[in-house]
Amino acid sequence: MREILIKPTLYKFKNFGEFAKEFNVGKGDLVFTNEFIYTPFMKDYNLDATFVFQEKFGAGEPSEEMIEAIFEAIPFDSYDRVICIGGGAIMDLGKLLGLERPDTVHNLYFKKYPATKTKPVIAIPTTCGTGSEVTEISVAIVKDEAGQTTKLGLVSEELIPNTVCLIPDMLKTLPWKPFASSAIDALIHAVESYLSPSRATMTSELFGVKAMELILEGFRRIGENGPDARLDYLEEFVTASLYAGIAFLQAGCATVHAMSFPLGGTYHVPHGESNYALFPKVLEKYDAIKPDGKIAEFKKTVARILGCSEADALAKLAELENKILPLKPLHEYGFTQDDIQTFADSVLANQQRLVVNSYVPLTRDLIVEIYSECY
Ligand SMILES: NC(=O)c1ccc[n+]([C@@H]2O[C@H](COP(=O)([O-])OP(=O)(O)OC[C@H]3O[C@@H](n4cnc5c(N)ncnc54)[C@H](O)[C@@H]3O)[C@@H](O)[C@H]2O)c1
Ligand SMILES: [Fe+2]
Repeated sequence: MREILIKPTLYKFKNFGEFAKEFNVGKGDLVFTNEFIYTPFMKDYNLDATFVFQEKFGAGEPSEEMIEAIFEAIPFDSYDRVICIGGGAIMDLGKLLGLERPDTVHNLYFKKYPATKTKPVIAIPTTCGTGSEVTEISVAIVKDEAGQTTKLGLVSEELIPNTVCLIPDMLKTLPWKPFASSAIDALIHAVESYLSPSRATMTSELFGVKAMELILEGFRRIGENGPDARLDYLEEFVTASLYAGIAFLQAGCATVHAMSFPLGGTYHVPHGESNYALFPKVLEKYDAIKPDGKIAEFKKTVARILGCSEADALAKLAELENKILPLKPLHEYGFTQDDIQTFADSVLANQQRLVVNSYVPLTRDLIVEIYSECY
């Protein structure tokens, strides 16, 4: 068994200034971020680096057009090192900026042009969700070979950043909604990798369980004391999302991510929220179809963390999550009855890397059933 435990070197800093000093940030550095993160945290240091703001290239999650525009605007020989500071979207784009430029973005995502790392990448997450700072994935909204829009993960070890710096202070401006959606995404990474049937490794469970403990304790505090309770717990949340990233780097994500990608890609639902719309139903199906496998262990773990019985574990978990992000039916995101069939085809055509990690065989019938019941 080969295991990449933690490929990047990890650092934790109190604030951006400490990081900039340690890494001598300046000429030759491309800092890829958002202006609303730059202004409160970086502007005052007057560094000689080049700062580029993602929002100049369009709002929201990375897309094929956005990546083309970014490559066009930032010449490859204009920087020696990439520093990406932001949510999963910024980190996924920053990871691409470390690669040799492909002929087209489409070819890169459809594996017709190889991913080759040529510049060092430092990743600094400012949300507590994706774990992208440690993973070998970069996700974008692309058109597939059938012309259908979906989200696709480009997977290559060349994408793993060289260095990760956690600066919990930089999460204090993260508004409630993206906080909630990213924290739920991290929880789903931990759970999907925990239940992954064949790719679990010597360490994936260790990091996954620790991530679940930290996140559920944070959710419990928020459930009791309200959203501001997160502010004293940001270090734990950003550490947990890193741990969950390490867990799914090893063991992989599965059904929830596979089924959420067409939804996110078509209706621009934030990543964590589109996962969450499917998550409780997927767990319910897993438990109904194969109650005596790893899910029994999972329920024990959840029962221990939440202090409830194993029989109540999934219901208590769903209840707690609902306090963080109210669960909505898919049609409220624009999802239609017709999507049930076309999304099922899209999942099977484009998301095999995730489908293979499903806890129970993910048949077309099961996909249709889950979408229908979440409709
Ligand atoms: N590479 C991977 O392994 C991986 C895994 C899961 C998801 N993803 C991708 O990551 C993206 C989702 O990432 P996300 O959940 O972090 O969302 P995001 O990157 O879209 O950020 C959410 C929102 O919060 C804002 N924001 C971020 N940090 C802030 C801060 N400190 N202060 C104020 N506002 C801030 C962002 O600008 C954005 O509007 C999706 O594109 C998804 O496909 C990648
Ligand atoms: Fe995710």
